[in-house]
Amino acid sequence: MHVVFLGPPGAGKGTQARLLHDRFGLEQISTGDLLRENIARQTALGKSAEEYMQQGRLVPDDLVIEMIARELERASDGFVLDGFPRTVTQAEALDALLARRGTPLDAAVLFSGNRAALVARLSARWTNPRTGRTYNTLTDPPKVAGIDDEDGGPLVQREDDRPETVTKRLDVYDEQTRPLVEYYRKAGKLVQIDALASVQTVADRIAAALGAEHARQ
Ligand code: AP5
Repeated sequence: MHVVFLGPPGAGKGTQARLLHDRFGLEQISTGDLLRENIARQTALGKSAEEYMQQGRLVPDDLVIEMIARELERASDGFVLDGFPRTVTQAEALDALLARRGTPLDAAVLFSGNRAALVARLSARWTNPRTGRTYNTLTDPPKVAGIDDEDGGPLVQREDDRPETVTKRLDVYDEQTRPLVEYYRKAGKLVQIDALASVQTVADRIAAALGAEHARQ
């Protein structure tokens, strides 16, 4: 399966991409995680991306497309792209890359949710920067505050989860990423999921929708 996850910040794309990886072995490719790793290592890409991310703006298309092209070369089996594409230019580049590989996209899963709920989720998110595992102090807290249940490592809050940056990221989503809904609807690939249900319900709905999509093709 070759799947992209679309949806506003905080909709649960990362959480569900990790579950799809565990359930079906699909490789999870998260542009946000890859960019944060590049910033941590202070690579040329990380240095170019850092200011955009701190401000809640999109990193320029050419940088992100080049990074994804490299990742796709390594992903020989199925994958779920979490956070890419985010502009029509990125979606067209992805179509071209997949056509070259002979692996067309199976589905674009759209996570939908209202703004107030997403802002609340992001202000309660804590992440293990080493593994990417996320918690939520409202709905899924760690056993000990600030400590990962799995590896005992420290949990941190993302710098771009501050309320003013979250507002900017949601505006950027509306302006630059929302047009992709129509792009994938026209291509017959769009699958819409209510992202405000529980984590397990959302996971089950995605699995059912992808199973149906797979059977249809
Ligand atoms: P990125 O890291 O991709 O952030 P995002 O898309 O804004 O998404 P988030 O990671 O904030 O949210 P999510 O939907 O993954 O939710 P999560 O599962 O964590 O991008 C960051 C930045 O990188 C961008 O702003 C941009 O600058 C740059 N960038 C990245 N990709 C780019 C691209 N393609 N082009 C250009 N620039 C790019 O869940 C959120 C919280 O809710 C967690 O606490 C979780 O535990 C909880 N939760 C999840 N599901 C549920 C549920 N069903 N019920 C209750 N709580 C839930």
